[in-house]
Amino acid sequence: MKRVAVLISGRGSNLGALIAAQDASYRVILVISNVEGAAGLDKAQTAGIATLVIPHTGKTREAFDAEVDGALRAAGAELVVLAGFMRILSDGFVRGWEGKLINIHPSLLPAYRGTRVHERVIEAGDVLSGASVHFVVPELDAGPVIARATVPVHPDDTPQALAERVLVVELKLYPEALKLLATDKVALKNGLAVFTA
Ligand code: GRF
Repeated sequence: MKRVAVLISGRGSNLGALIAAQDASYRVILVISNVEGAAGLDKAQTAGIATLVIPHTGKTREAFDAEVDGALRAAGAELVVLAGFMRILSDGFVRGWEGKLINIHPSLLPAYRGTRVHERVIEAGDVLSGASVHFVVPELDAGPVIARATVPVHPDDTPQALAERVLVVELKLYPEALKLLATDKVALKNGLAVFTA
């Protein structure tokens, strides 16, 4: 059973899904938020999971990341899951957790890295969007993809309507992808996501 820490900044719907889907392969042992009062913290506390608020304000990126890293090591985290964590992590932090650090992004990566994803998908007239779980590498949203799920884009979609449709598939996709990693069915090797049966 892998000990998983989840990093959040906000409402924590992905966190909730990850907690609900826990099985013999992983356990969420710690939730860290950089934002005090993030709704996701309540979800963790209700589930009896340890929480920590580490504000990023007034600190260098490296100092903040070192604090987070220290808390993760102290808790004995084996895997680190970013779930709506709105901070860019330093190269040093990312390298320190190489192959053990994953993120979910609300697009079909490698398309639409970064922010304003749904706006850009609609502006482009795409008929398909979705979500991707990927290993985190120093370049933003550029890591090898572990799993994707698709949703249709409707002609009259607003960014919010599309975001809600994508979120539904995220909540199923993220636990599935985490279980692949927790059971060593996927690993980061030479910059690629390598799958075994
Ligand atoms: C999700 O759409 C995720 O893809 C993006 O941020 C959102 C987080 O939502 N990275 P929540 O905090 O899990 O509710």
